[in-house]
Amino acid sequence: MSTKPRILVARAIFPEVLDFLSQHFEVESNQDDLDWSPEELVRHLQDKDGALTTGSVSISAALLAACPQLRICANMAVGFNNFDVPAMTAAGVQGTNAPDVLTETTADFGFALLMATARRVTESEHYLRAGKWTRWSYDMFCGSDIHGATLGIIGMGRIGQAIARRGALGFGMQVIYHNRSRLDAATEAACGARYVDKDTLLQSADHVLLVVPYSAASHHTIGAAELARMKPTATLINIARGGIVDDAALAVALREGRIAAAGLDVFEGEPKVHPDLLTVPNVVLTPHIASATRRTRLAMAQLAADNLVDYFFRGTVRTPVNTPLPVARSA
Ligand code: DGY
Repeated sequence: MSTKPRILVARAIFPEVLDFLSQHFEVESNQDDLDWSPEELVRHLQDKDGALTTGSVSISAALLAACPQLRICANMAVGFNNFDVPAMTAAGVQGTNAPDVLTETTADFGFALLMATARRVTESEHYLRAGKWTRWSYDMFCGSDIHGATLGIIGMGRIGQAIARRGALGFGMQVIYHNRSRLDAATEAACGARYVDKDTLLQSADHVLLVVPYSAASHHTIGAAELARMKPTATLINIARGGIVDDAALAVALREGRIAAAGLDVFEGEPKVHPDLLTVPNVVLTPHIASATRRTRLAMAQLAADNLVDYFFRGTVRTPVNTPLPVARSA
């Protein structure tokens, strides 16, 4: 009988990462990428010592109680709002995430979505594909400038800072930011960003970009009241998490022209999208792909796998999300 620790890979991942895991563990993988119910997930996890999860796999207190053998969940995402971290810590289950390896790729995408939204790239492409482009006109698809504009970033972690650098150094933008805690002066200078309160940011930014982690405190950071404070010419970009923006209120603001446009990579209740967002023209919608380059997604999966190997064979992990480290469940 195998004495290797038993691992569940809860969603399909790169075959090379599965091969790597199989060198160390007895692995069961959901390589058909089936949508398991919470009960099915428990059934697959009940005899496992560890799991490789993605942001769509919820690790709840009830699941932890039903899976007493489980000792670690390694998330292939920097965000970990799919983990009930206090319940994991109380149960002695280690959680890890996948930061850093996706920072620049995600910042590239934040900027791509900003540019596509402000310059109306998808809206004008749909117009062209529909055969509506018959002649040039002076005001056709006029958008707003990126260069020289004021970029307001809410959430100034690693990804926020990487976007700030792109804006300040690459596009000559005035970058302002709001964050739970202010950055030190050297970091502010390195990313060319100035700290302001949230209201000042909403009122003065031409483009508001959200990269704040999801928590109860950040739920609906942007709702009807915040949208009303923004400039009518402003653009709103959400690459953070669904639930940071009140999507219903945003759809109303877009339809009524209270802000100019929005670019959304994440949605409340995704993969469902609020139906009103699907019918307003001035919004660019993408299916949670900010970190989606092959190289970066592979690095995220490998980091999750490395955390599992380090936990079981070196007694440590690279990127813990519950600190102090939980007292491990007995093997
Ligand atoms: C992350 O890493 O948190 C991205 O949103 C992908 O899930």
